[in-house]
Amino acid sequence: MNVYDSERMGDLLRPLGYEVSDHAADADLVLLNTCHIREKAAEKVYSEIGRLKEMREDRLARGEGRMTIAVAGCVAQAEGQEIMHRAPAVDLVIGPQAYHQLPELIARTTRAKGERLAADFAPDAKFDALTADREVTGPTAFLTVQEGCDKFCTFCVVPYTRGAEWSRPVAQILDEARGLAGKGVREITLLGQNVNAYNGLAPSGEPSTLARLMYALAEIPGIARIRYTTSHPNDMGEDLIKAHRDLPQVMPYLHLPVQSGSDRILRAMNRKHTRQAYFDLVDRIRDARPDLALSGDFIVGFPGETDKDFEDTLDLVRRVGYASAFWFKYSPRPGTPAASMPKQVEDAVMDARLNALQSLLLDQQQAFKAGLVGKTLDVLFEKPGRHGSQAIGRSPYLQSVFVEDAAHLMGRIVPVRIEAVGANSLQGALISNGVMA
Ligand code: 5AD
Ligand code: SF4
Repeated sequence: MNVYDSERMGDLLRPLGYEVSDHAADADLVLLNTCHIREKAAEKVYSEIGRLKEMREDRLARGEGRMTIAVAGCVAQAEGQEIMHRAPAVDLVIGPQAYHQLPELIARTTRAKGERLAADFAPDAKFDALTADREVTGPTAFLTVQEGCDKFCTFCVVPYTRGAEWSRPVAQILDEARGLAGKGVREITLLGQNVNAYNGLAPSGEPSTLARLMYALAEIPGIARIRYTTSHPNDMGEDLIKAHRDLPQVMPYLHLPVQSGSDRILRAMNRKHTRQAYFDLVDRIRDARPDLALSGDFIVGFPGETDKDFEDTLDLVRRVGYASAFWFKYSPRPGTPAASMPKQVEDAVMDARLNALQSLLLDQQQAFKAGLVGKTLDVLFEKPGRHGSQAIGRSPYLQSVFVEDAAHLMGRIVPVRIEAVGANSLQGALISNGVMA
């Protein structure tokens, strides 16, 4: 979502004469878009600000213009006052709900040197301004449909930083999607912290589900692939599972975090489902879409996690089998209930568990990729490869696929025979000139 937000902020600032630069040292304005989910991400902001401050001084010494430093995102939201206090170099702090105000705020800070601003507002006004004129960089695009979270998992800051669940109206999303399709986008990833809790208003005035929204999106000419992320198991409605069976546009790949395989820990995390409920859910989705591959998020070292609890997580991973995954050490976050729970787990224990889990998940990921060799997958060609006629595309399972002699196929979906597996990619070959779409 931060990638999406950063791109939209770039779009908003373009009319002011800004363009995206690859080098911070050359920039008149640096906007740090920040993440508060774990301590490491949040702390990085302060070291980045220190680095930027030096760049600003170097620029001034070279006689170049003063660099404006702005901090956006969830650290800005959660620690706005602290940033203003701890980092005097920062000119502007802007929370995720205020991005539509960015042009005005930037104009003000750059005009009046010394004025420092902090801003945050309500979400509804935001998206119209943010999505009016999107720049498209290839055949795939993110599209935010929902923001915020009411789940309050006891480890997580999202309900505090991104606020209550809020869904964009259906018509607004369809307009944005039509605009993207008109610019050549073939694959849309619907975004939300709790995307399958989507309940935006349809033109009828009734709330829509995510599944119904996807049926409407699938009607838009040009939109050949739909993904959505991130989902909560408890919001996988029957109609959403059916959409995986009935809508060929919905890709057979689902990010469905479970966090832990222990019922005790799931309860302490306030996840509101058991491991058995997760197994049953996975079975139902796989029944609907047998070629479905799963991805997940896992936390090790949640307060009170014992060796047995961790074994339950490994056991869940072995039973489910993941094509891809993210694994994290529990990080206590200020203001969350878990941060003050007893029996915080020692760092060395967390490290050992993280290693064991990582090695199991990496093995599964590798095995999944190896199992694709010899198979034919539809690949959406996205960008040029490392040389000449090579092109890089995306498999249905979100892997990068390198293919020779495919540079002419940009933006098209073509069957590719998978020939070999690399560390972070697949190698494939065109099987014919048969272009599917
Ligand atoms: N510590 C570690 N991991 C966390 N996540 C969220 N909060 C924390 C935390 N306090 C992980 C969860 C979530 C992902 C986005 O980040 O696994 O699904
Ligand atoms: Fe955080 Fe996801 Fe739980 Fe919401 S559902 S509190 S975003 S982990």
